[in-house]
Amino acid sequence: MTHPVIGWEQGMPVPDGHRFNHYLTCHDGRLHMDGLDLTQLFDPDRSDQGFDRALPSPLEIIYLPIIRQQIEKMRRYFGEVIDEVDYEGRFHYAYASKANAAEEIIRTTLGAGANHEMSSTVDVEIARIMKARGLLPDDRIVVCNGFKAAGMAYADNIVRFKDEHPTLIPVVEDLIELPPLISSGKPFEVGLRQKSYGHHEDEAEMNLYNSRFGLAVEDMWKAADYVSAAPNLTLKMYHAMVGSQLVDAEDFVERLKPPIEIYARLKQRHPSLSIFNFGGGMPIAMTLDFNFDYHGFIRLLLTTMQEVCGRYNVAVPDIMGEFGRYTTSDHGAHLFSIISTKENNSDLPWYIIDGSIMSSFPDSWALGEHFICLPLNHLDMPFHQVQLGGITCDSDDLYPPKKSEALLYMPVETRGLHIGFFSIGAYQEMLGGVKGSKHCVLPEAYELIVDKDADGRFTFEVLPGQTAANVLNNLGYYDLAATTLT
Ligand SMILES: Cc1ncc(COP(=O)(O)O)c(C=O)c1O
Repeated sequence: MTHPVIGWEQGMPVPDGHRFNHYLTCHDGRLHMDGLDLTQLFDPDRSDQGFDRALPSPLEIIYLPIIRQQIEKMRRYFGEVIDEVDYEGRFHYAYASKANAAEEIIRTTLGAGANHEMSSTVDVEIARIMKARGLLPDDRIVVCNGFKAAGMAYADNIVRFKDEHPTLIPVVEDLIELPPLISSGKPFEVGLRQKSYGHHEDEAEMNLYNSRFGLAVEDMWKAADYVSAAPNLTLKMYHAMVGSQLVDAEDFVERLKPPIEIYARLKQRHPSLSIFNFGGGMPIAMTLDFNFDYHGFIRLLLTTMQEVCGRYNVAVPDIMGEFGRYTTSDHGAHLFSIISTKENNSDLPWYIIDGSIMSSFPDSWALGEHFICLPLNHLDMPFHQVQLGGITCDSDDLYPPKKSEALLYMPVETRGLHIGFFSIGAYQEMLGGVKGSKHCVLPEAYELIVDKDADGRFTFEVLPGQTAANVLNNLGYYDLAATTLT
């Protein structure tokens, strides 16, 4: 039986130099993240990487260089295949801010040259802040997805933001989103989103699918005609998102085939259309058994586009993707200490961590999702199979998730043992909430933002975690919180 590989699966110690994936390696019995020794963050005496203080556990790591590496890699893959197959369109990388909208993330994706995708009125404010800081140049495409009917703050804010940022493309989900754009009189380039989620043999099947996102085929044609008839609007983008974490490259392109056919027919009638946006869905390794042929996917997508557009005698479009999980998953890690071990007649020993699995990565209990989990130290010692428990009183606060077949091995030696969850940088923080109050009133962990300077040396910024007073304040205990607790 196959199972997700979430970590080390043997009793033997991990060999020195072992690579778990593209950013996790073992050196001298300690885990390194893109070269950064993680144990030193709790034990600075053993640091030779410029880290000079012991941080409290639990600790969240925000490792920014990986975000830049991801963007750069995807651009390179597309560039290579565009050359290889002589594709006559360009590639536009956009970051889907819903995966993680933290300031340091948006500043990093924009700094790496990514275009920007958003979905709510607060997102517009984030873009406005980035604009004011000079991080969002005029030629950077900003795609506005999400519901934005007339009268909604988001619709009004998009119209206002158009005066500040010229390359703003609202993507219409529904016909009722058109009137505010038309009545604004402003010269918008517009996108139209197809109702396209799922795997469908053809357009008719796709049209029958139950989804609240995007326009059914008939409405798509109507919307395109309305846009073309409006003196201030230009039809620019066709948007078709077909799923998320699509780990089979052929299936991914198969799903896109009905939308590609519609794109080509729309292009015949509306020549201004020039960008095909496949939205999200680009997969990323959240476990160690992941394998996806990015080149293969891109080759198949571009050659399919060439074949279909050739058949309809229209120019191939530029390709855009809105990369959420792919951009941010790898950069985030959450580190914990093992505070006790317990048997209690369980099949496997319990290792209890000093925090909550549930509230730190909600998808592990809500969706049974797996993330990479490894010790930070003692990797050169024998391992055995265990289960992890959080310190909340909740029976779901455990790892691997209930019903999972995954095997979790940890060092038998638990003195001073630290462990880490990896690939948790997309969606988990936003779903778990930032600040606020969490399950069993556990305070939020310290955060460490790691970057590299121009000479390749690590730089560190520590953001303090929540105090008891912060948590109490959130819950309305203002007097007590203000006076007696820190
Ligand atoms: C419109 C749109 N674009 C992009 C994304 C990002 O998807 P992913 O995280 O799979 O890249 C989403 C995710 O829900 C989305 O709804």
